[in-house]
Amino acid sequence: MGDMERISISIPAKLLKEFDEVIAEKGYASRSEAIRDAIRDYIIRYKWLQSMEGERAGSVNVIYNHHSHEVMQRVIDIQHDFRDLIIATLHIHLDKEHCLEVILVKGDAKKIKELANKLATVKGVKLVRVSVMAPGGHIPE
Ligand code: NI
Repeated sequence: MGDMERISISIPAKLLKEFDEVIAEKGYASRSEAIRDAIRDYIIRYKWLQSMEGERAGSVNVIYNHHSHEVMQRVIDIQHDFRDLIIATLHIHLDKEHCLEVILVKGDAKKIKELANKLATVKGVKLVRVSVMAPGGHIPE
């Protein structure tokens, strides 16, 4: 292996427990290797989103904890700022704490990624996934 840096991070115990369960199921030999893969996946997803150009239609899917302070208000405020892009929003109550918001969008990819990145930085938002198609039905690169 090439140059390695050693880092120390703080992580909620519950999240680490879940991560360890997942990596045990997947069969990782070490937690470090699983974290490296997770970081690579994070970077690839971000780069994929940033490289998207042109017209797209689909959804921006957001999971958040609605008990988190002002998260719902922030998520709604951001959507109002992107009202020209958003066709409709579905709200699903996943469990006692978590909500899934499926935001249907159609428009410039630049605006879609701006929306996704803004939502991702809201405190209390746990996951944002963009699923969009290019016109004509071909699979976006
Ligand atoms: Ni809900």
